[in-house]
Amino acid sequence: MINNNEKIITAPKELFSWSCNQHKLDRRIGIVPTMGGLHEGHISLIRTADRNCDSVIVSIFVNPMQFGQNEDFNLYPRNLEADINLIESANLRNELKLFIPQVDEIYPAGFNSTVHVGSVTETLEGYFRPKHFDGVATVVLKLFNISCADTAYFGAKDYQQVCVIKKMTADLNIPIDIITCPTIRDVDGVALSSRNIYLSTSQRVQAAVISQSLLMAENLIVKEGCKNAEKIIDQMRDKILSAADTKIDYATIVEPITLKELKILDGHNEIIILLAVKIGSTRLIDNKIITGIS
Ligand code: PAJ
Repeated sequence: MINNNEKIITAPKELFSWSCNQHKLDRRIGIVPTMGGLHEGHISLIRTADRNCDSVIVSIFVNPMQFGQNEDFNLYPRNLEADINLIESANLRNELKLFIPQVDEIYPAGFNSTVHVGSVTETLEGYFRPKHFDGVATVVLKLFNISCADTAYFGAKDYQQVCVIKKMTADLNIPIDIITCPTIRDVDGVALSSRNIYLSTSQRVQAAVISQSLLMAENLIVKEGCKNAEKIIDQMRDKILSAADTKIDYATIVEPITLKELKILDGHNEIIILLAVKIGSTRLIDNKIITGIS
């Protein structure tokens, strides 16, 4: 059993001084920022951090600043005991600290600053969730500063989020390496997500259509040599909409880094297919990175 008193830090100042000590001991610190509701996707990030670093910080903080007014902040899964048990069962080799601050420790009275990353935040998730990435960038920069981590681990599942964080890190000269870890999926291909628990049993079955449409698109591109983005997207849309109760926020093919939409795939070595689909009222995102196509 994780000794909660020893492993859990709630005060930013305490984490900062723990991290300073780790650095004095010449230990490299990895941080895995999360909002809890942990699953094997998060654990894969934590395992990678554990392999590559000497000390690991996992933050669990449901960040109010990144949720829109009509979004699921209040509903978001919070089960600290289950989260701690899952981390414990991962049998990590290094010292691990859980950083679990209260909202007023991250946003004390009078807090009045926002990190806004331009351009990559304006499309896709940024279009459907205005201000979402301001909230993400602000909390992630705070976590980087509080933790003094050398490396931070993020999942490719939230592809645009990684682009935003990499851009922020480069633009603001933040001395931290950003590592992207692959998306972990269930046996039926559905990307693991804390929000999957909102799905009913039948919706959970329908959700497989999202990753199936990505695989179909990959086949069209890689095996059949299709380079016409519109044609690929049309087929993906048909597949997704054939499942009950689905609505597509976006389905698109973009180039890396800038996330500029592509019409023709010729001449692009790497492309990313991105999807946001609502199943009932649950909004899920997924993507596929395809390389070596040109
Ligand atoms: P959260 O949704 O909890 O995700 C935490 C990290 O886990 C993110 O880097 C996310 O991309 C990664 N992740 C989620 N599902 C995954 C999967 N199936 N496979 C691999 N990695 C996966 O993303 C956030 O929290 C927040 O926006 C945060 C960065 C913590 C800022 O509040």
